[in-house]
Amino acid sequence: MTQDSKANELQSYWMPFTANRAFHRRPRMITGAQGIHYIAEDGRRLIDATSGLYCVNAGHGDPVIVAAIQKAAATLDYAPAFQFGHPQAFELASRLALLAPDGLDHVFFANSGSEAVDTAMKLALAFHKARGEGSRTRFVGRERGYHGVGFGGLSVGGIPGNRKAFGQQLPGVDHLRTTYDRSRQAFSIGEPEWGAELADELERIVALHDASNIAAVIVEPVAGSTGCLPPPKGYLERLCAIADRHGILVIFDEVITGFGRLGHAFAAERYGLTPDLICFAKGLTNGAVPMSGVLASEAIYAAMMQGPEHLPEFYHGYTYSAHPLAVAAALATLDVYRDKALFERAAGMEDDFCETLMSLRDAPHVADIRPVGLICGIDLDAGPQGAGVRGYEAMQRAFHDHDLYVRVAADTLIVAPPLIAGADDVREIVARLGAVLAALS
Ligand SMILES: Cc1ncc(COP(=O)(O)O)c(C=O)c1O
Repeated sequence: MTQDSKANELQSYWMPFTANRAFHRRPRMITGAQGIHYIAEDGRRLIDATSGLYCVNAGHGDPVIVAAIQKAAATLDYAPAFQFGHPQAFELASRLALLAPDGLDHVFFANSGSEAVDTAMKLALAFHKARGEGSRTRFVGRERGYHGVGFGGLSVGGIPGNRKAFGQQLPGVDHLRTTYDRSRQAFSIGEPEWGAELADELERIVALHDASNIAAVIVEPVAGSTGCLPPPKGYLERLCAIADRHGILVIFDEVITGFGRLGHAFAAERYGLTPDLICFAKGLTNGAVPMSGVLASEAIYAAMMQGPEHLPEFYHGYTYSAHPLAVAAALATLDVYRDKALFERAAGMEDDFCETLMSLRDAPHVADIRPVGLICGIDLDAGPQGAGVRGYEAMQRAFHDHDLYVRVAADTLIVAPPLIAGADDVREIVARLGAVLAALS
């Protein structure tokens, strides 16, 4: 095949989490982005209703972030991540520690949410081993949790499709029940009233396996990718208290909830909790360069800083941990969040956002709406053709007919606009969604 052959131009790229064959039939190509808009290949401006994949919290193409990346590329393209450092990486870690709840002062960098989750799980195992509690190897996740695609994250995640496709993965993993029960929580605004007692499931798991065998429990404060499931009031507090009582580490996976999505730097702050480890990614660099990381408690760090001084204390890391371009993007992104007070802005917008999204309550096919912070899941009744068909149609119609990009998970639409969006933008998103729903077969 010649270099310029177009014969197979869509076939070579095997797209992630994508219905490749359907995409080839009717591609949805994006060629540019600015502010809260994407530009489609045919020149149309689409509203980005899901901040890319919940990562472009400061809006697309912010000049401060763009300039920082350009400068970094010309100054230090790459520095070895192992045994050598560059000053900005230390600056970024310090700034993240300042943003995090008190006591989470140490940052390990990775490149994706999946890597952050695997890093946190390995840290939990290594921490217990370092303290002579090596029998603590089990993990507890939750049904409908999403923790990325590494074997660790897949295992603690609670997505049936992953088990169907790849089997059972890591041994020694239990799952809490999902906190979502439509019969008791439908159309709740924010954290639902019912469900705090579901945290007691952790006691049941401890009673079965004994705490001495359990390393950590991992949850998303608000389950994001499976449809935005806010925690019932008091649930996270109860879960953390039980874990604490049994010496089980708590990992908050804040890959979506971090960096303003819930009106705070981290959801931990919204709920007044300090987990032992926080995974973060996405909004860290505004999506502009891949980067993620884990915030760790002083106790974990101190336990690990042992052994001969010439040896790494934690046998883990990535070639691109603290990559200079990513670090530059993250530092600039944190500046933008601070200078535009975007976390505070998100907090101030929450009530109006929730009310506006709720106005879709009587739209065709809507089965539930769950807004919290600046994220909202809208469940559609599965159509007669089966699960996911109606959701797929909604995504297609939104893109092709209503100039709207919105993320769809099965039959759930997930709205999470950039934090720079205004009340009028949210109303426009809802108007377009209403038109999409009205047009659905
Ligand atoms: C809570 C959570 N954890 C982990 C991940 C995985 O992140 P990545 O796709 O960057 O590996 C995601 C992605 O959406 C996520 O929402």
